[in-house]
Order: sequence, then C-alpha cells, then structure tokens
Amino acid sequence: MHDPTTLAYAVRRGLTATPKRLPPFLFYDERGSRLFDRITELPEYYLTRAERSIFEGAGEAIVAAASRHAGAPLTVLELGAGNASKTQVLLRALVGLQGRTRFVPADVSPAALEDARARLGREEPDLDVRPLLATHAEALAAARAWDAREGTPFVLFIGSSIGNYEDADAVALLSQIRGGLGAKGALLLGTDLRKSLDVLLPAYDDAAGVTAEFNKNVLARVNRELGGRFDLESFRHVALWNDASCCIEMHLESTRAQRVRIDALDLEVAFGAGERIHTESSHKYDDARVERLLAAAGLGRFAVFCDEQRRFAVHLARSRE
Ligand code: AVI
Repeated sequence: MHDPTTLAYAVRRGLTATPKRLPPFLFYDERGSRLFDRITELPEYYLTRAERSIFEGAGEAIVAAASRHAGAPLTVLELGAGNASKTQVLLRALVGLQGRTRFVPADVSPAALEDARARLGREEPDLDVRPLLATHAEALAAARAWDAREGTPFVLFIGSSIGNYEDADAVALLSQIRGGLGAKGALLLGTDLRKSLDVLLPAYDDAAGVTAEFNKNVLARVNRELGGRFDLESFRHVALWNDASCCIEMHLESTRAQRVRIDALDLEVAFGAGERIHTESSHKYDDARVERLLAAAGLGRFAVFCDEQRRFAVHLARSRE
C-alpha cells in the first residue's frame, strides 16, 4: 500500500494533495498505451515523425558515432520501448555496421513488448530480440550485470520521455542510466525542442480529441481498477503552456462542484467547479538545458542531431569518468 508505483497509492496521495495531481505513469495501462500509439500518428503530434526523420536521415551517422565512442559490439537497450517502431530504423543501421545485433526492448507493458517482438522477429532476421518486462531501474540493473560477451550497452531513451520528468528527477534518472552504461557505453537521448505555441499547443490538444481521451483514461482507469465513480463527462481536458518551467502541462478540470467516491480506497474526493488535476508536464528544451542536465548526471555529450525543421534533437552522451 505504500509502494509509490502502485495505482492505489498514487491515486490516494495525488487526489488528497493540494493542488491535486496524478503522476503520468498512470496513463499507460493497455488502453492508454494504445491511445498513445494513436497520438503518435496524429497530424498535430509532430514529435514522433520528427525523431523518426532524424533516424532516417542520420541513422548511420548516429550508430557510427556511438560505436566509435563506445566499445563495439553494441547491445541496444531501449527504456520504455513501447512497440519500438521508430527504433527499427536505427537497429537496421546498426546491423549494417556490426552484423547480428542484440536488442533488449524494456517496458512495463507486456502487450507493447509482444508487438515489438513479433514485428522485429518477422522483419529483421539479424536482430536477436530479448524483450524485458521491467521498469527503467530494473532494466538498468540488468545492463550493469552484462559481461563483455553480451556487448557494450547502447541505451536509448528517446521520444522525449525525459520531458515528463521535472529537472531534478531527470538528473536522478540520467545518473542511473550512467550507472547502466558503465565506462564504455553510450546513451542516445531524445528531446523535444522549445518552439512556437502555435505548434506546441495543438500537439497536446488535437482536433480529433485523442489526447483528451488519453488524459481522461486515467480517470477511466481509476473507475475500472479501483471502483471509482468519476463521471468523465464532467471533466474537461486542458493543455496549457507554463513559461516559467518551459513545459506543456495537461490537466483535467472539473466542470462543476462534485464529490467522487473511490470504493477500493474508501475515499470521497471533493472538487470545486473549475478545480484541476495536474496529470502531466512535458518539458521542452534548448541546448543549454540539455547540457546542464547531462553534466549534472556526470554525462558528457559527444554528438547531436536535429531534424531539418529543428523541432527535435537526439544527443549522444557517455560517462565523463
Ligand atoms: C511519452 N511522452 C513523451 C509524451 C509527451 O509528449 O510528453 C506523452 C504525451 N502526452 C500527451 N501527448 C503525448
């Protein structure tokens, strides 16, 4: 009950706090993971396409630089791999460079890992795919235990997943990643770049309403798994820009005063009209901020690649010691 990674703990803690909040990891049950996959295909959500275009244009240069700076052969560990569809482009380039390559997609969603395994198994005969059902910390602990025959870790943390962490938490995670890399490994970090609000806001509030559904899925999940009585119609999806923190925030706003019971927690939560639950921050970066986070985690950047429209960047880094 006191494990912060459980739904029950996070919901009780977040909905009894002021202001109310729910951590973004709660989005990703099976339905949420499918909704996120749909988000990545929306016309407004440029992030996935921009990062994929970097891999398509510079995949060979990225893996060549990683392999030059790290000890070959590289074994790829992707944190939060999902269905690993973008990664396939990079993996092909790496197979071209070093031949048969081991790929360890790590995720907490068995369905996403199964998608990755089935597709890559069918389409990439030179990949040795070893799915790992694990949190980031568990996956990095596994990498620390690899011996030389298992290859040098090439850790991918892409998709601007780092953006869902506050800077202090991002530094803590990057420090853990540095531990997983050891002395010779390399990190590929994807970051969304700060840009016009005309582009940023629609990416988090799309015309088809998929992001709204993704956001509300957290309440639907409380209803499904904890006997919650949320009326989804009386909450509104809100996406806004927080200039001081340089992030898009997502909230769920109660459209009326109401009390909501959650049976499994024996809890009743009161909402005022217009009161919000903060569900996610998605930080946007400039070069200096990325350098600062990496340096604070003991990592040094040795290459950076951007898409043509400079919407997104991927950075190669390794341990400074
Ligand atoms: C997973 N993460 C990087 C996404 C983001 O852009 O912050 C999650 C997301 N939230 C709304 N749309 C997509």
